[in-house]
Amino acid sequence: MTEQFKIYVAGHRGMVGGAIVRQLRARGVPADHIVTRTHAELDLTNQAAVQAFFAQNSGIGQVYLAAAKVGGIHANNTYPAEFIYQNLMLQANVVHQAFAAGVKRLLFLGSSCIYPRMAPQPMAEDALLTGTLEPTNEPYAIAKIAGIKLCESYNRQYGASHGIDYRSVMPTNLYGPGDNYHPQNSHVLPALIRRFHEAREAAAPQVVIWGTGTPKREFLYVDDMAAASIHVMDLPPDVYAAHTRPMLSHINVGTGEDLSIRELAGLVAEVVGYEGEISCDATKPDGAPRKLMDVTRLRDLGWQASVPLRDGIALAYEDFLAHAAATA
Ligand SMILES: NC(=O)c1ccc[n+]([C@@H]2O[C@H](COP(=O)([O-])OP(=O)(O)OC[C@H]3O[C@@H](n4cnc5c(N)ncnc54)[C@H](OP(=O)(O)O)[C@@H]3O)[C@@H](O)[C@H]2O)c1
Repeated sequence: MTEQFKIYVAGHRGMVGGAIVRQLRARGVPADHIVTRTHAELDLTNQAAVQAFFAQNSGIGQVYLAAAKVGGIHANNTYPAEFIYQNLMLQANVVHQAFAAGVKRLLFLGSSCIYPRMAPQPMAEDALLTGTLEPTNEPYAIAKIAGIKLCESYNRQYGASHGIDYRSVMPTNLYGPGDNYHPQNSHVLPALIRRFHEAREAAAPQVVIWGTGTPKREFLYVDDMAAASIHVMDLPPDVYAAHTRPMLSHINVGTGEDLSIRELAGLVAEVVGYEGEISCDATKPDGAPRKLMDVTRLRDLGWQASVPLRDGIALAYEDFLAHAAATA
């Protein structure tokens, strides 16, 4: 890949943005063709600052919009105003100012929480806007749906006249280097890595996991997510158009396979080397019984995940150990 244009990765310090930068570099994109700004350098919720950034950085041909205010159930429930305001503002600023600066290609990253809480499983793209959302993260999900519709609306109004093609991908649960291992505020997989690691270190006889252990979830290694993002970004316009519709244009990204939380816990324990007992606390809430992406559209577009879950967990555990050593 020897692009003549520059590529702006918004959110490059995040888990996904960081993986996209790694993949672009690995594919031969020179460092000086990848434009990045930290949150401190450029607050994407600030319209004037985003406008000035694009005005001062000519030659950007592609934008990966991987910046977002992201958090777990607790943060979403406690700070709903911040989740909807910051995400709406930053994505509207980036999409509009990218358009105003003549950027032809943009990839918006959403989330599987855009789908109704009772969506048929596996969740296909056309489940969007067919039912009520999960209330705990509704403001965040509404912002993400607005992000898809922003891209589609700019394409519909300006696609032909200005040659723009703004696309969206909806990732399933991600994990890998750069994940958040915070004891109270992390997603299930990094939380299990920490729990089993600490249990092994303490020679604890038992680890108790929340809920019945029966809900099924899907997990994608973040480098696979980055690879899928680049694949979708670089698809020829006729191919993308043939597999999407102007008002149903987003693409699910996942493995298409899920496993129960109990099975996941067993796998993490094996990778970490924890040999004690694993039990379930069924008095704790379970969440939805199943959340699996239908990835037919992405497969038809020629991409599928390549990192097996066990290998990905081993890589994530290495990252956890490095992170723990660095912060010790
Ligand atoms: N992680 C997952 O499991 C998952 C699953 C589905 C979808 N996604 C989506 O993937 C995207 C990236 O997620 P991630 O996990 O990589 O999140 P992340 O690790 O939290 O990274 C998000 C990045 O965005 C930056 N950012 C936030 N607000 C900003 C602002 N106003 N101005 C400039 N930068 C700002 C953050 O910088 P600061 O930290 O300095 O604020 C951070 O570097 C998001 O759209 C998310 O919805 C993630």
